[in-house]
Amino acid sequence: MVEGVTRAALTAEIVERRSVVAFDSRPIEAEKLQALVEAARWAPSSSNRQPWRITLVRSGESRNALNAALSAGNQQWAVNAPLLVVFAAVAPDPERPGQLPKLMLDVGFAGQNMMLEAVHQELRSHPMGGWDEGKVKAALGIPEENAVGFVVAIGYGGDVNDLPEDARPKETRERVRNDVGQNFFDGRFGQAWNG
Ligand SMILES: Cc1cc2nc3c(=O)[nH]c(=O)nc-3n(C[C@H](O)[C@H](O)[C@H](O)COP(=O)(O)O)c2cc1C
Repeated sequence: MVEGVTRAALTAEIVERRSVVAFDSRPIEAEKLQALVEAARWAPSSSNRQPWRITLVRSGESRNALNAALSAGNQQWAVNAPLLVVFAAVAPDPERPGQLPKLMLDVGFAGQNMMLEAVHQELRSHPMGGWDEGKVKAALGIPEENAVGFVVAIGYGGDVNDLPEDARPKETRERVRNDVGQNFFDGRFGQAWNG
């Protein structure tokens, strides 16, 4: 395993994005919210179909219900974030039923664009797969034919000491990645890339 982030020649947003758990409840300014929306809007998608349906949830009844739809572990920290963003899509697309993986990839590109823009706006983020799909849909009124891909918490940094003790290590944990040759190949599948 490789420790830390390879900094050479990478954009600051890629280097600095990390999944954190200490969020301050301070609201995100309107211009920054707009930047997050625009960043996701300009993501690439297959045939430019823009399948993503993205709900930004700040407060109120739907936010309380969404908080409750998260896994217990995620609730420990994600409820403090001033913004939860739910990425969904009609899936499978009735016109392209065999293209489900590509469709969800498009949704993922939109999510990554938003998380990188969050860094650019001096915000932090954390994607989540830990939630109950039925409860998420019920919380936001998402129609049945949609699949929920992931939920992203976004906000300003907060004090990790405000979190329950067992949630704190995620804030400071060492970030690791596989050795490059494990996942990247040169010319032929399985032949390790080594530059
Ligand atoms: C689709 C997806 C689902 C994830 N689900 C959770 C989750 O439910 N809870 C959590 O704490 N982190 C979750 N993560 C965060 C990952 O654990 C994290 O991205 C990974 O450890 C790499 O760390 P980094 O984001 O800081 O680079 C998820 C990430 C992705 C992309």
